[in-house]
Amino acid sequence: MLSYEDVKSRLEGAEQAHLLRFWPELSGEQRGDLLSELSRLDFSGLKNHCRGAAEAAASEPSGADQHMQPVQPELVGSVLKSDKKTQANWEDEGLVQISENRVGILLLAGGQGTRLGVPYPKGMYDVGLPSKKTLYQIQAERLRKLQELADLKHGTQCTVPWYIMTSEFTLDPTEMFFKENNYFSLEQSNIIMFEQRMIPAVTFDGKVILQDKCKVALAPDGNGGLYQALVDNKVLVDMEKRGVQYLHVYCVDNILVKMADPVFIGFCVSKGADCGAKVVEKAYPTEPVGVICSVDGVHQVVEYSEIQPETAEGKGPDGELLFSAGNICNHFFTRAFLKEITQNHADKLKQHVAIKKVPFVDECGNQVKPTKPNGIKMEKFVFDVFPFSRKFVAFEVVREEEFSPLKNADEATVDTPTTARHSLLAQHYRWALAAGATFLDEHGNTLPARPSVTAKDSLPAQCEISPMVSYFGEGLGQLLEGKTLTTPFLLDVKRATELKSL
Ligand code: UD1
Repeated sequence: MLSYEDVKSRLEGAEQAHLLRFWPELSGEQRGDLLSELSRLDFSGLKNHCRGAAEAAASEPSGADQHMQPVQPELVGSVLKSDKKTQANWEDEGLVQISENRVGILLLAGGQGTRLGVPYPKGMYDVGLPSKKTLYQIQAERLRKLQELADLKHGTQCTVPWYIMTSEFTLDPTEMFFKENNYFSLEQSNIIMFEQRMIPAVTFDGKVILQDKCKVALAPDGNGGLYQALVDNKVLVDMEKRGVQYLHVYCVDNILVKMADPVFIGFCVSKGADCGAKVVEKAYPTEPVGVICSVDGVHQVVEYSEIQPETAEGKGPDGELLFSAGNICNHFFTRAFLKEITQNHADKLKQHVAIKKVPFVDECGNQVKPTKPNGIKMEKFVFDVFPFSRKFVAFEVVREEEFSPLKNADEATVDTPTTARHSLLAQHYRWALAAGATFLDEHGNTLPARPSVTAKDSLPAQCEISPMVSYFGEGLGQLLEGKTLTTPFLLDVKRATELKSL
């Protein structure tokens, strides 16, 4: 920790001396807290950060969306448009890589989940499934099952290490949650948690905001903080030691996420890609998803917060959306690509401006909860490395099978705990029907074979299949074919064993 004098002179150099404004009235403990927090700031970049934030917030939008072109069709693979054999080949390739320990997964879990509004990390959220599983548990079980599938096929004992990027807000509770749950029966040493950096929020005139008298308003540096965090925490070194060459990076809130999806991995590997992204067709023009496109010939994502409504609504000659490749925050990177990014490009990543209401302490020391935006948070985005790729590919998947994010609380109409729960139950019901099961409700009436939940008020049948029984619908025929089952139906390992012996 730096001394008071040291911190003071560095803050003066960065034109931020006001952060010590309340020093004379702080207790010994509060002084210690403030000094320790200030000592962790990146003083060398502080002045630029503050000036840059103020300038960026005052400047006109970049207008990048004026130069957007749809991504070239030859770079887009598609589950919808490829035949079963091609998909099976990709899956085989992915499973070979997984069985040979060349694949890792990396979860972006440093966000604050402000829209959902819970005081704990989103991964700990239980959307109300019959099993009461949290997002973390579902993900852990999919991972276990995937390792099992690769081992069965190739006679191996493989490991897919799980890297989890957290932030100051999420590290402790995430660690504790995994510990309390005995790491969901995964090997603890294969779950590697690390922390991204925090950066200060700044006023419109470039001053770091004091949240209270002895605390700076800090926020994680965006999910693109990943690249700095990989360096800070020597994650690529760990990957190298383990022989991991390919990484599937994903965001925490998609209840349908296919962890280390062998089809996606196999597709990217067979195309020789260094960087890839899964997309779904946008549901409606203003859906809050980024759009994968090319700007001046370079592949990138234009985020939903930065696209003009008229561009988002642009239509092609057949009336279809021009920019329909919705980013679902599932990315593929080779380790070599990540190494190059961290060595040569990490400092060139774009900073995005978010104007927010940031609670602060006023001149007189009163806590203020602003009613209108007063602060600037700068964020990097994980996909901003795409322009550095030598071979970028996109992979289109089926929304109802792979994308149902949990973003908002239940008062909202989209991306809520209810929509996430319904998506998962509807998917599992489809799997069970396809496997040859028939379902009765609690009164003994046969349930219709409803393929999906589209109407807002139509409830899916209560059919939940544990990932420990099936990763993505496979292996269910031998358990369910010709069976008549009553809902609510929960197919866990115990039930699967019973059904097998019938
Ligand atoms: C993100 C994508 C968007 C995509 C959408 C799909 C980015 C920048 N945007 O948007 O293009 O269409 O998901 O659901 O990727 N996170 C961190 N550290 C941070 C901030 C966020 O790890 O500092 C993590 C979150 O925990 C989450 C993920 O990044 O797992 C995505 O963050 P979120 O804020 O939910 O992104 P969206 O705005 O929904």
